[in-house]
Amino acid sequence: GGYVTYDPGFMNTANVQSAVTYIDGEAGILRYRGYPIEDLAKKASFVEVAYLLIYGELPTQQQLDDFDHMIRTHTMVHEDLKIFFSGFPRTAHPMPVLASAVSALSTFYSDSLDPHDEHEVEVSTIRLLSKVPTLAAYAFKKSKGEPMLYPQNDLNYAENFLRLCFGVPAEDYEVDPEIAEALNLLLILHADHEQNCSTSTVRLVGSSDANMFASVSAGINALYGPKHGGANEAVLNMLRSIQSEGISPEDFMEKVKNKEEGVRLMGFGHRVYKNYDPRARIVKATADKILRKMGGDDELLDIAMRLEDKALADDYFVERKLYPNVDFYTGLIYKAMGFPEQMFTVLFAIGRLPGWIAQWREMMLDPSTKIGRPRQVYTGETERRYPGVE
Ligand code: CMC
Repeated sequence: GGYVTYDPGFMNTANVQSAVTYIDGEAGILRYRGYPIEDLAKKASFVEVAYLLIYGELPTQQQLDDFDHMIRTHTMVHEDLKIFFSGFPRTAHPMPVLASAVSALSTFYSDSLDPHDEHEVEVSTIRLLSKVPTLAAYAFKKSKGEPMLYPQNDLNYAENFLRLCFGVPAEDYEVDPEIAEALNLLLILHADHEQNCSTSTVRLVGSSDANMFASVSAGINALYGPKHGGANEAVLNMLRSIQSEGISPEDFMEKVKNKEEGVRLMGFGHRVYKNYDPRARIVKATADKILRKMGGDDELLDIAMRLEDKALADDYFVERKLYPNVDFYTGLIYKAMGFPEQMFTVLFAIGRLPGWIAQWREMMLDPSTKIGRPRQVYTGETERRYPGVE
């Protein structure tokens, strides 16, 4: 017996104490380990931010070099793991393919599964950071029917991934440094976001002492949903259909406000931000520049900006404090980089990986961690007598 709190969606229930990421949703503030996202986005590399999130402090140059070297030298995956991709249909969405491949890491790297062995945790951390981009690129290659490349480890994190995605064996592939830089920025913006749906999933699965690969693969599946990471793909689909059906942004907004067929303005709203998402602000500031340089679709950007202008001036959105979130403009940039919509959430997963790892490790070291086991408010029948089928 005893007292339980009914709190659907954990609107008011903190399940963890965490020192990784701070969000002030009213003020639109986001900090990783105390550092404002704006500063990190301007100056840091994604690998440096991963180090910060996971170990709690910025690395010295030597620590960064060592960490970066470890990641670069573990980017290959076992040859047998590549065969795994052949079993999926060619049309398979790369998100569940990636989740499956990450889940399979538990079977290939069974020497780093103990969540309470410091060395094994360190090994699986490096394995995930280095191999997830490779697996993500293979999921992409699979969908294109192109051969998978081996990583080229003199390239940095973003460059290596871009080459694995867009390179073909018969030709030299020159990574455009500006595209790599833009990808580096977007990965940093996604690197952690405290107890969001996928991170909470990683923690909940890990709370049973499931290994890091299993926990992260569960997180990837949680991220797949259109209300979470899948929103970036949904935004582009929305903009495309507005464009192709020739509906005006104004008419589309009417549909949203009337809640017709459950239509939402994708890329808007957030559980925590009741103000402009600081990540969206950074993405928007760079979107224009990047799209011009990469020859992105100006018409879609135009539709997006008109939708935003409309929304920010509309009572429906003002009353509900709905602002653009990180996903509103990212899809347009990914598209200009050459990624198809199905890859957008995969890119989000690569970005969120350091956050999942940092939070999983924090949980494992926290003596107050208990297995996640919510209670319920039972609404079913009281006791009934079984009459027998006759
Ligand atoms: N368009 C239209 N109305 C909306 C939207 C939207 N995008 N988001 C929320 N609302 C309305 C909702 O209908 C409700 O209205 P009412 O009070 O009249 O019923 C009110 O605003 C509160 O919404 P809620 O669904 O109770 O809020 P929540 O905190 O449970 O949901 C959310 C947050 C992000 C799931 C939601 O805003 C949403 O579905 N947004 C669109 C999907 C999206 O962009 N997701 C990405 C989130 S950020 C990155 C990430 O996590 O991946």
